[in-house]
Amino acid sequence: MNLKTYFAAAVLASVISTNAQPAKVTVDVAHPAHPISPTLWGIFFEDINMSTDGGIYPEMVRNRSFEDAGTLENWKFASTSGASEASISSADVHGQPAPLNPFNRNSLRVKADGAFTLQNEGYWGMNFVKGDGYTFKVAARGDRFAGKLTVRLLSNAGEELASGEISGIGNRWNSHALRLTPKSSDARGKLEISGDGSGTLFLDMVSLMPETTWKDHGLRVDLAKSLDGLHPKFMRFPGGCWVEGDDFAHMNHWKNTVGDIDVRMPLLNIWGYNATQGMGLYEYLQLSEDLGAEPLFCINVGMSHKETVPLDRMSQWVQDALDVVEYANGPTNSTWGAMRAAAGHPAPFNLKYMEIGNENGGPDYLERWPLLVDAIRARYPYIQCIANSDLHGRLGPKGPLPSIVDEHYYESPEAFMRRADQYDRYSRTGPKIFVGEYAVTKKCGLGNLRAAIGEAAFMAGMERNSDVVVMASYAPLLVNLNHRAWNPDLINFDSSRWYGLPSYYVQQMFSENRGDVELPVQVETPFLRLAPSNGMIGVGTWNTKAEFKDIKVTAPDGTALFTSDFSSSADGWKKLGGGDWSVKDGALQENAEKEFVRALAGDKAWTDCTLTLKARKMGGREGFLILFHIKEDEDRIWWNIGGWGNTQDAIESGSGAIDSQPSRIESNRWYDLKIQIAGAHVKCYLDGQLVHDVDYESSAGIKAIHACAARDEKSGDLIVKVVNASAEPLETTIELAGAQNLSGTGQATVLTSGNGMDENSIDEPMKVSPKTEAVKFTGGSVRRSFPGNSFTVLRLRAN
Ligand code: AHR
Repeated sequence: MNLKTYFAAAVLASVISTNAQPAKVTVDVAHPAHPISPTLWGIFFEDINMSTDGGIYPEMVRNRSFEDAGTLENWKFASTSGASEASISSADVHGQPAPLNPFNRNSLRVKADGAFTLQNEGYWGMNFVKGDGYTFKVAARGDRFAGKLTVRLLSNAGEELASGEISGIGNRWNSHALRLTPKSSDARGKLEISGDGSGTLFLDMVSLMPETTWKDHGLRVDLAKSLDGLHPKFMRFPGGCWVEGDDFAHMNHWKNTVGDIDVRMPLLNIWGYNATQGMGLYEYLQLSEDLGAEPLFCINVGMSHKETVPLDRMSQWVQDALDVVEYANGPTNSTWGAMRAAAGHPAPFNLKYMEIGNENGGPDYLERWPLLVDAIRARYPYIQCIANSDLHGRLGPKGPLPSIVDEHYYESPEAFMRRADQYDRYSRTGPKIFVGEYAVTKKCGLGNLRAAIGEAAFMAGMERNSDVVVMASYAPLLVNLNHRAWNPDLINFDSSRWYGLPSYYVQQMFSENRGDVELPVQVETPFLRLAPSNGMIGVGTWNTKAEFKDIKVTAPDGTALFTSDFSSSADGWKKLGGGDWSVKDGALQENAEKEFVRALAGDKAWTDCTLTLKARKMGGREGFLILFHIKEDEDRIWWNIGGWGNTQDAIESGSGAIDSQPSRIESNRWYDLKIQIAGAHVKCYLDGQLVHDVDYESSAGIKAIHACAARDEKSGDLIVKVVNASAEPLETTIELAGAQNLSGTGQATVLTSGNGMDENSIDEPMKVSPKTEAVKFTGGSVRRSFPGNSFTVLRLRAN
């Protein structure tokens, strides 16, 4: 049976069971395909989920510089005498009361009249380890304040673990330091500063840090090691949306993150907390170097989530892009190179990769991209400029051509399994691909095995095509368990512990077994049985004002499932994406001209049905989105009429445009739209004309077995990676073709668990983690039963 017929038969059977025919992976050992990109597997470090403050940047005091609010946020003040008071002192335009420095204008003011205490619990408790040294620092000045301060480390219950004294507080700002060593451990400890006497006391930059940090470079040891355990070959930083900001006042601006920590201005981070900026450009570059990872800096392109810098005001953005290269690589006698040297790194960091913008696109991006890229390339021709692109089918810049294009995917396990072959079809002559953010974010719990298996299938496809896909990084990387702004996240931690998702081990297994040369594989496999497609319907817009009416859904037997009623309200419609919805003249109007605005109706259980409606464009750049089979709020399965700047008409699913053709929507004209949905098959009619007749899910379904193979040049090992995406064990033969009856020994590393929904947790960190076993093979083949929901790496060494 040739491969094609076997696929077809398997689709018809479309059931995976233990009786399923064995699968076969044929590895062409004799004809290596291409070198595997040495930078293939890396990490994306965004300041999200309190991954820096409260995370890898081990400052224990929260709101150390009192810039977070006009009140004593995260501090508890108590006046034992009842007469002392504390408040935030904010320097006015004349510099009164005197701030620590012009960039750090708030401080804590205590008007002392008797004894007082100040307590700080840090980021959900401070981790004190018995016998370890902690450095306490504070900047202080007094105004007729003659007292001394007692600094104590306390357990959560209030027991004293260590203490020290600070005296000699003068009437000018001065720094004071103490070394404190707790007599016992507590992961939820706190800091107390107490004083007595009279007069006014000002405190700023109150800091408590562990003495021991990773490689003595100031980062929390266990978390830095958890990154090191992934052996990343590059590190993209510092975002993500943090690079864009919701507005320009809140974008990550690298120039505010360098220099002494007391002049770095804290900033409200887009992910819902104040960032101290203690982890700044220098620290990211140093971490990259310590990990042996190429730094990949992502810079704002003059676009925040809500604003765009006018083209004639872009010079500052261009200058920032040039200056960052000088900071990272410039000679020590250059302005920014000197700052790097002063921070402790006279040698260049060798920054070679810069991403221009994050998830930006459309005409604004295409206009701003050349401004930064032309300037960077003119001065630093060795920098590889990475473009944003193809997030759900958006086109990247054409001029100047990017060196690399960054794609992002957040989807279900099955969507990733479907994508496993997508790069087989990518052009070999265009820009290289960087999959800068990807993770299973649907049906994943807090990060389960099934999610990891979906990613493993996709990663096998990236490795097989690493002549095109030269870099990839999971996202997000870190989460403080007390501040989850995104789910799931690869590494979860509290003040003293961490654990990796099953996805962490998938990343680790790929990077520890990358290999040097890809070997072609042919996979003969059964397919997964697909649950019937189902979900709600909806209407939406993308940078457009539009209205919709006469929306009807009927079942295949003609039963009416839904009829819209916009006579007085749009109650019952679920509005998503922050649009401006209202009803007028019996129609539902959307007036916001924003991206990704939609309103959903109906039942998630709806499968086959026909949707009819009328739609009219009232203004803006595009046309209409007609949604169907929407199970999760963020799902993007729609008929996009007038998309891509009103140039295309396409069916889109999470995987991008599926069936696309040129089209243009006229304003102020009602269009008749009809979608017939049967399974994953959709037929779309525009004014009675059939414009799409497609399967929006790949007609071939999802392969149960995904594989890739490589050779490690140094050891000579053959490395075969096999993903069983089905829930059942699958007998599979690995055929080592093109070599004479290879036999030998090796090792299998297997990631699996009893149930695809299984997860790790802080109390059961290794529940789903890889196990290894010895393997023997003879006659040029290995036959194994691959457990359901498993990822296996075979390292085979021929005798
Ligand atoms: O990884 C989390 C976020 O997802 C990133 O900030 C952003 O780039 C994407 O939307």
